[in-house]
Amino acid sequence: MKVRWLRVSKVKIPKTLLMGAATAATQIEGGDYNNNWYQWSLEGKIADGGSSITACDHWNRVAEDVCLMKELSIETYRMSIEWSRIYPKKGQVSEEGINHYIDEIDLLLKHNIVPLITLHHFSSPIWIQDIGGWKNKETIGHFLNFVETVVTFLGDRVCEYGVINEPNVFANDTYMDGKYPGGENGNVFAFFKASKHLIMAHVESYQLIHKLRSEKGFKGETKVGVLNHMTHFELTTKNKLFNLTKKFIDHSFHEFYFKGMVEGILTFPYVKRRVAKKGIYADFIGVNYYTRNMISPSFDITTLFGEVHNTKGLTNENKTDLDWEIYPKGLSKVITRIYNQYHLPIYITENGIADAKDTLRKDYINKHLKEVVQLIDNGVDIQRYYYWSLLDNLEWNDGYGPRFGLIEVNYDTQVRTIRESGYRYKKIIVNREIDLD
Ligand code: GCO
Repeated sequence: MKVRWLRVSKVKIPKTLLMGAATAATQIEGGDYNNNWYQWSLEGKIADGGSSITACDHWNRVAEDVCLMKELSIETYRMSIEWSRIYPKKGQVSEEGINHYIDEIDLLLKHNIVPLITLHHFSSPIWIQDIGGWKNKETIGHFLNFVETVVTFLGDRVCEYGVINEPNVFANDTYMDGKYPGGENGNVFAFFKASKHLIMAHVESYQLIHKLRSEKGFKGETKVGVLNHMTHFELTTKNKLFNLTKKFIDHSFHEFYFKGMVEGILTFPYVKRRVAKKGIYADFIGVNYYTRNMISPSFDITTLFGEVHNTKGLTNENKTDLDWEIYPKGLSKVITRIYNQYHLPIYITENGIADAKDTLRKDYINKHLKEVVQLIDNGVDIQRYYYWSLLDNLEWNDGYGPRFGLIEVNYDTQVRTIRESGYRYKKIIVNREIDLD
């Protein structure tokens, strides 16, 4: 028996696991009129007529929010740099934008909070949307210019980068479900074309960030990772014919992006080929995990006759406010799968719950962290856990209804209040122990 398991109800967390929280710029900053989510808000595409201009006014409240992180004993913070803040117009670098992020990161470092930067988290400047977004190959070059600018100005302060957040969800929600800016419905062709460009952008950014940081002699080990949403798929039918459906959906959601981004290899529906020389283009694998998903037989040929949906028939105790099943075992399943495949360090870059009443969050965190500790005990190299999210925020097209925060935000007054579960999470970080009682 491992020493770590003091009593059945108490589980020790190893010191090697840094714990923190994650956010994304568009979801919290507010006030950005050059962003494609602003345009999308104007088109009435956000629930309840919400606008990305509101958010949490974090742009003006960075100091207050870093104090709150400190209050929660956050050890590491995953945040994104908004492309439209750095390049509001084509070819125009904003000094204000750069200086803002330099100040923000300096503040984190002053408080010993390790930053992990996301370079693309579901948003683009309007001028990129105007040229067709990620469907247009030119976007890759523009994105690389942005990456170069960020690393040139922030690279001496930041060693760790996640290039593209959840390319699978991003491409699906933009080109299949029409929920994100540039939205189209069921355009499989656009889905794979944009995904190919995202893969190429990742592989080139990986090399660029390493090259720039080393040429400039910036201190600290450069770490560039992939950030993928992972789920555990299960068939609702026992009919073996649908195993192929499951395989295809799983490939399009997971394998296509991992092969592409980690190995630089394009796979089905493309003719298998390299987009870069043989190599590994990731120093860590970022896993965003929330729930498992079911696949039921359908008449849709574009998904090979499978419909992906949430688990049905759940009780209030085992589902979130968004009707996502609470399924901690799935975290172990997805991590084991990807760790066995690549043996790269794992960062859990998102794991969290929409729970406005704050009755389930404490338990959700405990149970998922318990899985993490078990995996570490079994030899899986998990180095980070980021709770999603630090603050309640704009849940994209779903608007301001879902409440994911350790900290509650009143959007009328912008007053922040740490939730009870936030204080529980702090206790876990400080005591390095999960209390399952
Ligand atoms: C995502 C994004 C986050 C979401 C979170 C909750 O996973 O879709 O990375 O921005 O807000 O996942 O849905």
